[in-house]
Amino acid sequence: MELKFDQRKVMLTETILRDAHQSQAATRMRLDEMLPVLEQLDEIGYYSIEAWGGATFDSCLRFLNEDPWERLRLLKSHLKTPIQMLLRGQNLLGYRHYADDVVEQFVAKSIENGVGVVRVFDALNDPRNLEVSMQAIKKYGGVCEATICYTSAEIEGREVFDNDYFVNLAKQLEEMGADNICLKDMANLLLPLRAYELVKALKAVLKPETKIHVHTHNTTGTGDMVYLMCILAGADIVDTALSPLGNGTSQPATEPLVATLKGTPYDTGIDINKLLPIVKHFKTVEKRLKDDKILNEKSKGIDVNTLLYQVPGGMLSNLINQLEKAGKADKLMECLAEVPNVRRDCGYPPLVTPSSQIVGTQAVMNVVMGKRYKMVTKETKDLFAGKYGTLPMPLNEEVAEIVLKGADRITCRPADLLAPEYEEIKAKLISLGYYEKEEDVLSYAVFEQVAENFFKWRAAKKQGVDRDMAKGEVYPV
Ligand code: CO
Repeated sequence: MELKFDQRKVMLTETILRDAHQSQAATRMRLDEMLPVLEQLDEIGYYSIEAWGGATFDSCLRFLNEDPWERLRLLKSHLKTPIQMLLRGQNLLGYRHYADDVVEQFVAKSIENGVGVVRVFDALNDPRNLEVSMQAIKKYGGVCEATICYTSAEIEGREVFDNDYFVNLAKQLEEMGADNICLKDMANLLLPLRAYELVKALKAVLKPETKIHVHTHNTTGTGDMVYLMCILAGADIVDTALSPLGNGTSQPATEPLVATLKGTPYDTGIDINKLLPIVKHFKTVEKRLKDDKILNEKSKGIDVNTLLYQVPGGMLSNLINQLEKAGKADKLMECLAEVPNVRRDCGYPPLVTPSSQIVGTQAVMNVVMGKRYKMVTKETKDLFAGKYGTLPMPLNEEVAEIVLKGADRITCRPADLLAPEYEEIKAKLISLGYYEKEEDVLSYAVFEQVAENFFKWRAAKKQGVDRDMAKGEVYPV
């Protein structure tokens, strides 16, 4: 392999306000822990600061009694650097497909309230699930960063998720209007030399103005090497997290990469001295999260299980939990061997929420029942029926017959089957008496019960009810 250096500044996206604490601390960083350093973060010269979307929205409403829209507006009032969010295509930030009118409104309000860069992905890499959100991002003036979820699988000794697969997908997304292409390695399965080849292949076919933005974690310990190789291959932007919440299950740390690239043709232009006071602040946040037993030391280390079994870390702990509950903890190795079989049967979905849960649960059932597909979950059925979208590879038809038992399959874009729902949801919220602003409708659309609880708390607080009382289960009316 030949390494050629060219003059090209590399840019960083800082993830400490989103993925870093989502990955290490159950997304529990509070707004008051962000506010003191926003001006300093703004002066660093990041490409963007990831601060919204993903699990932050759910966590604000569910655990922190914060209005996620209010958080976004406050962040924006302190930041000129673009705020980046993570959006799960037609799923938005929730767990089902939403109708197109809700998707468009959600994107419109996100951008209106301060999001500058929207990274949008689909768990199955089905571009049809990105169509409406991508159109809306462009329409309302955001930077549209469409994602290819990295995954790998061998059929008869041949890698099926080869460069051609990813290049075709990236080209399709570029044609649909993507400004950036994100290569998202959610499980840190990507290995450095593979990453080099892949970014080279993408660079060779994408337009020169289309930026390649790489996202990985350091769960398996390859993250820094992956970034360095991607940068050598031509990646424009990579995601890092300041060291107090960097590495392990989070992103590779910001400071070592800044130092690594300094004085080279890839210099980020970031002054490491300016990072130090911010690092000092986040050390106190890290300590608070540890004191509250939210941040576990284990999430800081290296876990090679993902590389050994090709299942993401979160999925492995789910498998262990499910088996323990069934009293079959001794069947773990059998289940780990069954995961790739189930994945093959259902057309090799990348293993990320929700496909990782669906495949993992079905593998446990197949092993525990002693017969494959004797029992199937509704989600497995829906996956085989095309209700999550088109699977990357063909289904195992024999298994599909058993799973579906003659049930209908769909080949259209799943959201084509959904009638508009925004006005109906809005009317319901108004009738409940909780409507204050249009954004409330979106919170309610995506997290119905959780949002309702938050609205109750908000109403109680406004009526001057004691804050601690308002946090409890009982709400004075
Ligand atoms: Co991530």
